[in-house]
Amino acid sequence: MTIDVDATRAQFPALLRTVGDRPAAYLDGPGGTQVPDRVIEAIGGFLRAGGSNLGGPFVTSRETDALTESARGAVGALFNASPDEIAFGQNMTSLTFAVSRALAATWEPGDNIVLTRLDHDGNVWPWVRAAQETGAEVRWLDFDPDTGCRLQAEALSSLLDGRTRLVAFTHASNAVGTIVDIGSVVEDAHSSGALTYVDAVHYSPHGLVDVAATGTDFLVASAYKFFGPHTGCLYGRSEVLHELDAYKLRPAPNKPPGKWETGTQSFESLAGVAAAIDYLASLGEGETLRGRLVSSMTAIGEYERTLSERFLDGINAMDRVTLYGGPTAEGRTPTFALDVGGVPPAEVSRRLGDQGIFVWSGDYYAVEVMRRLGVADEGGLVRIGFVHYNTVDEVDRVLEALAGL
Ligand SMILES: Cc1ncc(COP(=O)(O)O)c(C=O)c1O
Repeated sequence: MTIDVDATRAQFPALLRTVGDRPAAYLDGPGGTQVPDRVIEAIGGFLRAGGSNLGGPFVTSRETDALTESARGAVGALFNASPDEIAFGQNMTSLTFAVSRALAATWEPGDNIVLTRLDHDGNVWPWVRAAQETGAEVRWLDFDPDTGCRLQAEALSSLLDGRTRLVAFTHASNAVGTIVDIGSVVEDAHSSGALTYVDAVHYSPHGLVDVAATGTDFLVASAYKFFGPHTGCLYGRSEVLHELDAYKLRPAPNKPPGKWETGTQSFESLAGVAAAIDYLASLGEGETLRGRLVSSMTAIGEYERTLSERFLDGINAMDRVTLYGGPTAEGRTPTFALDVGGVPPAEVSRRLGDQGIFVWSGDYYAVEVMRRLGVADEGGLVRIGFVHYNTVDEVDRVLEALAGL
């Protein structure tokens, strides 16, 4: 399969926007991908039909039961998990605070957890706070700025011991684009009896998630990064979801996944989540939903690689621009953190914004990454990220704009 980018773009109403007399270029999403028509229709469809809460003996409630099941099935297919191992929540951050609270209730002083310098704060601070409250020690797994910001996974075993309760790490960095081979980290963590919590928020629009192959205990993503609405999606291994004591209200379900879902879910969003996964699957082919997703995510990865190669060629020819992160398309997402010598990051982002090119500057909540790179006090870095609806012309347009700064 290959991505037909014109046909793909035609499905995204926001991509038709103009800024001045030029089409808008949504690089970085920005900070959230755009959604195809079918997602907007699905959200509106739920609200138009007069949806109600779960579990009632009338048609609108039965429809919500079915919708919730279908959204769980769709995310299960996206992650390669069973539907009852999928719980929804407001966003990745809220879900992670909820899981951290439940896990921390099992920790004791003298225990330790391992976090990484490569992670977004959403997979750092909930754990640091939980460790502070329980007296557990925080150990740090570093990345190497000199070798394309690779996570130093080989150092993990020296951080682990019989008291390590958790290893929380990212599938891919939202700042420098590094992809982590999560299977080997999970294997090391499990060999010392630690649980694993993987942040797949940045990775999920770019690559195939497979919790069955990697064996992680938890994995979390946010649908607004994979062409859906603002809803968090949590995978938890069935036994762990059963065993852990969730912070829930008394009448709420006692069994997973419901026991992990606080309050009333945004059902209109769940309709959108299922539609976003249907959209992704429509880019691939195969007999099953999972099969189509395997095919489409492979095609997306191949297409994005061509965008990365073109962008990297262009950047390498610019003396003033310093790239942080992998120098080739290998082992990285098409997300690039840059320093444009002499121009402050916020100024770069503003000047590109004036030209209808939407990119971020700062730390994008990747606090530890910016500190480790020594740029935290200098306004961070500019981040330019592509997804599968971006075109080669857009890559060239941003290169031209950078050269003209
Ligand atoms: C890698 C990564 N993790 C976590 C988050 C936080 O996700 P949410 O906004 O759903 O809480 C983000 C958001 O940008 C992210 O990029």
